[in-house]
Amino acid sequence: MRIGILTSGGDAPGLNAVIRGAVFTGIQVYNQEFVGFRNGWRGVVQGDIVPLGRHEVKGISKQGGTILGTSRTNPFEGIGGVDRVNEVMRTNGIDAIIAIGGEGTLAAARRLTDAGIKIVGVPKTVDNDLSATDYSFGFDTAVGIATDAMDRLRTTGDAHDRCMVAEVMGRHVGWIALHSGMAAGAHAILIPERKTSVEQICDWVTAAHDRGRAPLVVVAEGFSLDSMDDAHSERGLDAFGRPRLGGIGEMIAPIIEERTGIETRATTLGHIQRGGTPSAFDRVLATRLGMAAINSVVEGNWGQMVALRGTDIVHVPFEEALGTLNTVPDSRYDEARILFG
Ligand code: F6P
Repeated sequence: MRIGILTSGGDAPGLNAVIRGAVFTGIQVYNQEFVGFRNGWRGVVQGDIVPLGRHEVKGISKQGGTILGTSRTNPFEGIGGVDRVNEVMRTNGIDAIIAIGGEGTLAAARRLTDAGIKIVGVPKTVDNDLSATDYSFGFDTAVGIATDAMDRLRTTGDAHDRCMVAEVMGRHVGWIALHSGMAAGAHAILIPERKTSVEQICDWVTAAHDRGRAPLVVVAEGFSLDSMDDAHSERGLDAFGRPRLGGIGEMIAPIIEERTGIETRATTLGHIQRGGTPSAFDRVLATRLGMAAINSVVEGNWGQMVALRGTDIVHVPFEEALGTLNTVPDSRYDEARILFG
């Protein structure tokens, strides 16, 4: 069998480990052949294909980014569509596709599978917002990077007796904020799932400051104050027509300063959270997902993605993966909230 692999959507540390896990297992165990589509679905539609053998995947699990490149291309737009994808696969002798991507990627994969194209998915979301998998690769790395940044923000905050606001990724869900904030001992964690008032935030900040601490506020990019209808966005739309987020930290910092009288600074961590070397946890998870994807191909589990449940890798239909967001449950937020202020 000849299998094409693609990575699509925003990158996440661990993509290369998935590719390596799949290629290595496919060649070693099943004697399969691989090619890579460059830049996600764009490579499929344009027939932009590169060789992908043992040599190409050598030593790449520790590398950030993706050796195949990525894009937020929709395979149904422009010259794309089912016929075009079939044509590119036929011309290049490709029997099946492994699509590594988030919700948009898997939604497109599902439509193509419904049209008879053989696709297996691997979930990718640094925000950890896909409910079909307990954890997605890249999340642990992002939490580690954010925690390290917050530890640093705390020492400079202490030195100047300032309130520090750290903005992290998290469009719809606050997992990165919750975990990094808890790890760093934040005095307030603000997540998209919980609108919060300025008064409440300032109460937490003041309480921490009154105890002699330099307050640390962690805010997810998708968070809204209770007075806001939508998440803060001032950068237009992305390729999928979604508002580009970022800037809520800068927005609330002067409000905190004005209301509490405590000098306040904001730092947006942004894409630093997605860059660089994946953690050991993410390398292992990503490798296992890549290996399981190949088993799925061999078993003909088309229209399914691999996922982590507890410590097991399982197979889940795309529908399930696309159904609901993996939001932070109230119980997890309320548990963290005990530590605020
Ligand atoms: O979906 C993952 C994510 O990292 C979000 O947290 C963030 O809003 C978005 O991607 C950023 O996307 P881009 O790389 O297109 O700026």
